[in-house]
Order: sequence, then structure tokens, then C-alpha cells
Amino acid sequence: CENLCKERPTRPLLFDFHGVSMTHYFTDNWEKVQNFQARPDDILIATYPKAGTTWISYILDLLYFGQSAPERQTSLPIYQRVPFLESDFHVFPPGTEVADKLPTSPRLIKTHLPVQLIPKSFWEQNCKVVYVARNAKDNVVSYFHFDRMTKVEPEPGDWNNFLQRFMDGKMVFGPWYDHVTGWWEKKQTHSIIHYMFYEDMIEDMGRELDGLCSFLGLSPSVEEKERVIEGSHFDNMKNNSMTNYSNVPGMDFKISRFMRKGKVGDWKNHFTVTQSEQFDEHYQRKMNNPNLQFRTVV
Ligand code: A3P
Repeated sequence: CENLCKERPTRPLLFDFHGVSMTHYFTDNWEKVQNFQARPDDILIATYPKAGTTWISYILDLLYFGQSAPERQTSLPIYQRVPFLESDFHVFPPGTEVADKLPTSPRLIKTHLPVQLIPKSFWEQNCKVVYVARNAKDNVVSYFHFDRMTKVEPEPGDWNNFLQRFMDGKMVFGPWYDHVTGWWEKKQTHSIIHYMFYEDMIEDMGRELDGLCSFLGLSPSVEEKERVIEGSHFDNMKNNSMTNYSNVPGMDFKISRFMRKGKVGDWKNHFTVTQSEQFDEHYQRKMNNPNLQFRTVV
């Protein structure tokens, strides 16, 4: 961690970037991000931060490479197998460069960008997109703990302030509300987007995996499916050094782990009754658009 900590004495500041709150870690390489050349078989994994990105990334990696490249599962951390497109943390090569050099195909590429900022080549190449949404309350709790433990995020402040900032949309990658609904709306006209929910994955991974495979045109055997489900179980990912981020510098696991709880409903341990009521009322206002049939899960 030494180099990284020297490079990052302070936390980054939020600023407005094309109408979305961002930090320089996701905008420094913007020209290359915008001009990124997608390939037709690329699979884009799109999420709001802390919605289950690592989980779905690992599932896809196991589906595509679990059999053909088993050595990858024990030698390459997930964040190197699935480059983070817009990231430019300076101490590692930027996401675009890692993606350009990926030797495998299809390339699995992660992004947290809201739909309107996705580089146009992904649409031109008709790339498949897997989007995962998580209920807002658990999402903000997970985001809070993440921001406490990593210096690449702005200072989180206390829980009450963080919650207010989330409701105000002043988070890295912008408002949760716009993110999940922007992608949801895009899906209505783009069948190349498969929209999943974290809570559905918790409820029945077998069912969700079947839906995902059918979207991707994959037909794994029963044994392969079982292997994917087992390998991507929270406890296994938590104990797997290739998926639990334990080897990432700049994260303080003494404050909070990356694989923290992996549960639905942890928000109940964080929100006061008043906070929950205010959040719900605000949520109704933000999401209650009759033209938007967004499936709400709490
Ligand atoms: P919690 O902080 O609620 O535990 P991301 O990968 O988008 O950063 O999301 C991280 C969140 O997904 C964390 O949530 C993490 O524990 C959870 N997660 C990661 N792998 C998971 C799995 N296999 N099953 C359930 N949750 C998982």
C-alpha cells in the first residue's frame, strides 16, 4: 500500500461532469474512454456502485472461462480479468488500456457510467449489456461502508450526511435514481440489455442464471451451472483471494471489508425510523413516474 498511500494523501473531490457528480479517477482518461473501440462480442457489465458488480462479474467470468481457463481462477484477481472501463487510478494502467490488452474473448468489461455516458462504440457494435440494480436502501448502506474504507472515494462523513448526499444525488456516478431508471428506459428499446436485480439473485440464483444464460446464448451443463452457483456464493467469494479484493492496495479492511455482508435488508440496521420515512417519501417522488414501470424492490 505504501506507494498508493503516498500517491493519495487526500481523498478526491466531487465535481460536476456532464451533469453527473464524478471524481478525477473516472474522468482523467475521458478522451480514451469516449473513443474506446468496443468489439461486437464484448460484454458490458453495468451497475451503480455497490449493486453487486463483483458478483455478476465473477459469475460471467466463471461461465465463460471457468472450464476453458481454470488457471485464471487462481492466478488473476477479478478486477484484472474484468477491467473497469473508466477507471484511471494512476498507479495501475487505466481501464481502457487493460481492456485493449485483454487476451481473452469475449472481453468482460465493467462500467459504473450512467447510460448517457456510455461510449458510442458499444451501441454501434450492438454489444450485450448485463445491468444489475440493487434496492436503494441496501445500496446506500453498502456505498457508505465502501467509502469509509477506501481512499479513492470522497470523504463519506457521518451516516446521516451520507444518506442525505445519496438522496441529493451527489455521489460518484451521480444519483442512484437516474442510474437505475436511465438503464431501465434504455432496455425498453434495446433488447441487448439484460436487466437483473440483486435481490432476485439472492432469492433464486438458479433461476437468474438460467435467464442470464438464455440471454447470452449459453447452454451450460447442470454440473457447470452448479459450479458457477457454488463458486459465486457469498461465503466462497468472501474467502477467495481472487474475488474478495484482499490484495487491492488502498482499502482498509480494518474499517470494513469489500465482501461485507452480502444480504438483503441490512438497511434496517442503519436507517432510523425517521430516516426511513423521509427516504421512502423522497423515493416515491423520484420514482413515481407513471410512464416508468420500474420494478421496485425493497
Ligand atoms: P454489502 O456491502 O452489502 O455486503 P460491488 O461489487 O458492486 O462493489 O458490490 C459490493 C456489494 O455486493 C457488497 O455488499 C458485497 O458484499 C456484495 N456481494 C459481493 N459478492 C456477493 C455475493 N456473492 N453474494 C451476495 N452479495 C455479494
